[in-house]
Amino acid sequence: MKIEKPIVATNGTLSNPVNKIIECIYSRRAVRKYLKQPVDKMIIEQVVDAGRMAPSAMNRQTLNFHVLTNTALIKSFSKQIGKAAIKGITKMKAIEIGKSLISALLHPHDLSFFKEDDFVFHGAPVVIFISAPIDSEWAGLDSGACAQNMMLAAKSLGLDTCPVGFAKFVGDTKMYSMLNIAKKEHVVLAVILGYGDEIPEVHLRKKDNLFFIEQE
Ligand SMILES: Cc1cc2nc3c(=O)[nH]c(=O)nc-3n(C[C@H](O)[C@H](O)[C@H](O)COP(=O)(O)O)c2cc1C
Repeated sequence: MKIEKPIVATNGTLSNPVNKIIECIYSRRAVRKYLKQPVDKMIIEQVVDAGRMAPSAMNRQTLNFHVLTNTALIKSFSKQIGKAAIKGITKMKAIEIGKSLISALLHPHDLSFFKEDDFVFHGAPVVIFISAPIDSEWAGLDSGACAQNMMLAAKSLGLDTCPVGFAKFVGDTKMYSMLNIAKKEHVVLAVILGYGDEIPEVHLRKKDNLFFIEQE
């Protein structure tokens, strides 16, 4: 196989897009503004299928997908999750809040989206909840790999996404039962999906975190 010249990523953009997959990885952004255009069910199924193709610990394939496409319903879920998330944060111990504040200061993050009317699902036309067994030690990692596959597949099909960790608070809402998620499972993450109405700036990536351990 011919090895192309190393990829030099400046400002998060590729000077040498070696292939479509790498180009797709670099062009994905967390998009928080969507057109009202609905997403065809076949596209949703294709995106979820890409998620199913992600690796899973011991090939257990434990994840389930619960999808919302009704705009009014998404809005209601968003409102309730927002309230539950704020309650959840205020319930955190003072020490945890302190740690989060320090982390927020050390790793500046644009929190302007908190001012949005819908700061949970950002007005997206599709929400895909990813659930996993409560007792699964690998649930977070399986869900992360799955979500990334879905987000890249969506990007390659001309759609945008955002992973939504806040979605885990859906379990603390009155609407949770509507999702019909089994008692032994919980929501780990959601991925919102739709046709983006913004191209967010690239968040520059740290470059001081690669260490080659070279032995003679
Ligand atoms: C596990 C996880 C949870 C996240 N939760 C949220 C969330 O609840 N709301 C949100 O707007 N963005 C969320 N994000 C998106 C991140 O804020 C975003 O990926 C990060 O700022 C980097 O931006 P980029 O994805 O455009 O490169 C989450 C990302 C990850 C990986």
